Amino acid sequence: MKNLLSIESLSRQEILDIIALGGEMKATRGHLARHPLRHRCWGMIFLKSSTRTRVSFEVGIRELGGDALFFNANDLQLGRGEPIEDTARVLGRMLHGAVIRTFAQSDVEAFARLSGLPTVNALTDAEHPCQILADLFTIQEKLGTWRGKTVCYLGDGACNVPISWLWAAARLGDFKLVIAAPPKYQPDADLLRRLGPGADVRCEADPHAAAEGADVLYTDVWVSMGMEAEAGPRMEELGSYGITSELLARAKPGALVMHCLPAYRGKEITAEVLEANAETIFTQAENRLHVQKAILSLLADNHAAP
Ligand code: CP
Ligand code: NVA
Repeated sequence: MKNLLSIESLSRQEILDIIALGGEMKATRGHLARHPLRHRCWGMIFLKSSTRTRVSFEVGIRELGGDALFFNANDLQLGRGEPIEDTARVLGRMLHGAVIRTFAQSDVEAFARLSGLPTVNALTDAEHPCQILADLFTIQEKLGTWRGKTVCYLGDGACNVPISWLWAAARLGDFKLVIAAPPKYQPDADLLRRLGPGADVRCEADPHAAAEGADVLYTDVWVSMGMEAEAGPRMEELGSYGITSELLARAKPGALVMHCLPAYRGKEITAEVLEANAETIFTQAENRLHVQKAILSLLADNHAAP
């Protein structure tokens, strides 16, 4: 694995290796046997806001012995129109790796190609791979395994988080994914076709039918970053897809409630359900750190030392 650009581009084995190493990172936090990022300086280029991803990567890079430099768009000439291709060719000669949060997936891919650096997608409009890798780890930790389980995602079924879930279902082929969303917010038919026959995926417009018997109810914001102009209609059209106590009663007894955060109480999840499931949801956030340390470590080992 040279880069972590999407779940789509990972193999089943790569996903399993990341999750297994994430477990080791969690168990050995504070007393790591080796520091694979020693003498390496990673750049973090964030063109969208972030709490969890930014902090977990910065801490993770440091805990692995490396140094992190953080840039938002206006810290770089990128914000004044310098092309990503030129930025990549410059930074490729200085840094040892990059973590990028931006809009277009093609920008992260161009950066990886032209910089030659190990590059991590920290969220694009197309995917949020680090989130879903950490979520699989959390499900394994809380339920023992994701194999044979049903994950029900509710809300905007066409944004980055559910798309990464769809690719996880396709690559792993060992759990069921139900996407509950109004037809307008369901994943694109072409994407569903591209997943291939291994993906056990169902799209459902009725949130109650979708939640029936699920092992995990999962949600995300209704207005992703970059979609703010659509906030009004989205609140209305997605209004019946929030996780409430009544909806949760349809899931299996003991079902996990997960949220990638940030959460908007009273929209995609009620305050009551969020607080009752805070242990899972905040462990989910913490696990970003452990799983991303696994990703960084695997990438560093696959690139020549500086
Ligand atoms: N879940 C997640 O990626 O959170 P941030 O936007 O705070 O990084
Ligand atoms: N779908 C959300 C995820 C936030 C972590 C967004 O892109 O804003």
